[in-house]
Amino acid sequence: MSMMKPTRKLLFVLCPMLVLGFIYYSAGKLHLHMWGQKTQPVEEAILTVGRAVYDKQGFLLKLDGKLPQDLFYKYGNMSKGTCKPGYASAKMASIYPKFAKLAPMFLDQNFRRLGKIRDYLPPFGIKTQEKLIADILAATKNYGLSPHLDSLSCKRCIIVGNGGVLANKSLGSRIDDYHVVVRLNGAPVSGFEKDVGSKTTMRITYPEGAFQKLQLYEKDSLFVLSAFKPHDFKWLLQMVFKEKPRGMEGFWKSIALYVPREASDMRILNPYFIQEAAFQFIGLPLNNGLMGKGNIPTLGTVAITMALHNCDEVAVAGFGYDMNDPHSALHYYETVKMAAIKESWTHNISKEKEFLRKLVKAKVITDLTYGI
Ligand SMILES: *[C@@H]1O[C@H](CO)[C@@H](O)[C@H](O)[C@H]1NC(C)=O
Ligand SMILES: *[C@@H]1O[C@H](CO)[C@@H](O)[C@H](O)[C@H]1NC(C)=O
Ligand SMILES: *[C@@H]1O[C@H](CO)[C@@H](O)[C@H](O)[C@H]1NC(C)=O
Repeated sequence: MSMMKPTRKLLFVLCPMLVLGFIYYSAGKLHLHMWGQKTQPVEEAILTVGRAVYDKQGFLLKLDGKLPQDLFYKYGNMSKGTCKPGYASAKMASIYPKFAKLAPMFLDQNFRRLGKIRDYLPPFGIKTQEKLIADILAATKNYGLSPHLDSLSCKRCIIVGNGGVLANKSLGSRIDDYHVVVRLNGAPVSGFEKDVGSKTTMRITYPEGAFQKLQLYEKDSLFVLSAFKPHDFKWLLQMVFKEKPRGMEGFWKSIALYVPREASDMRILNPYFIQEAAFQFIGLPLNNGLMGKGNIPTLGTVAITMALHNCDEVAVAGFGYDMNDPHSALHYYETVKMAAIKESWTHNISKEKEFLRKLVKAKVITDLTYGI
């Protein structure tokens, strides 16, 4: 007995040390201060690192626009208005340490090697669509923005949403100053240039959202598919080869039957941005990796996610709805009022807004219209 006691004591000390050591090891240099505090509500802080506290999604709980010391050395003395190389992803990583800048904007011929999207069906990946995608990419032959934009050492991007908050603010020339102007679905430019600008680097869309009036397509822009369903890849293949789609099954409303752009101006948005926005940034239900109730991010948030990975600075305009004012305009280009917005089955607007607010609060992105 007298021999057992010290051994048992040793075991009692050793076991927790091994466990803690393992946690320490697996969490990198994490300090789990709050280990054992069982009263912590799940929705709130679950982990502290040093003195920092993180929320359930892995975002710093106390956000502000200040630069951490390493970024302050890098950007602090740059003159105002200078493009800051790597700023958006570095600031993102400072509030969300899991962020890794690894996802290319568009699929290219190496798409089968992108491990994160290989095992998911659309919209979160490419599984079952590999052949169609390969055929599309063989025809488009181009997988970047443009030689000029791809060569810039610092790119500023703006995602222009379709919100009524854009109306009558005369932001057009400020929007046109960005290197990359991203527009979504059928948000028009013609007739609204004063407020929304006239430059379109790319328009991201899907079959039901694409312009059906041919004159609305901008000449010098990329036509980018964000695929939400398997049918969407087949549709893009038809658009690439100028074949008229037969039948509408698989689509939830009428679709564009012809896209007046050359194959070389068409791209496939990397589906990783849908997956990352849904499951990592916003925290929507995984649903076994399948599309389900409230687990699809809106196209605007998908575009912001793309920009965090591929742009040095990111801004948005025309995002956010004024839910408190049923008489305010829903879109900048039509007279539909806020009151017309319906509860969505696919999206979770309120959870998504929580995520976007974090980005704005921490100055990862700049919101030109203050709607988020
Ligand atoms: C900012 O200041 C640091 C040290 O004071 C200097 O090394 C760096 O070159 C400066 N950067 C710019 C862009 O002026
Ligand atoms: C913008 O201004 C015009 C002209 O004053 C007005 O008719 C229109 O309703 C305004 N749009 C919005 C969305 O406020
Ligand atoms: C959105 O998320 C909240 C919190 O997780 C949940 O209560 C709500 O039911 C979700 N809404 C939809 C439309 O899925």
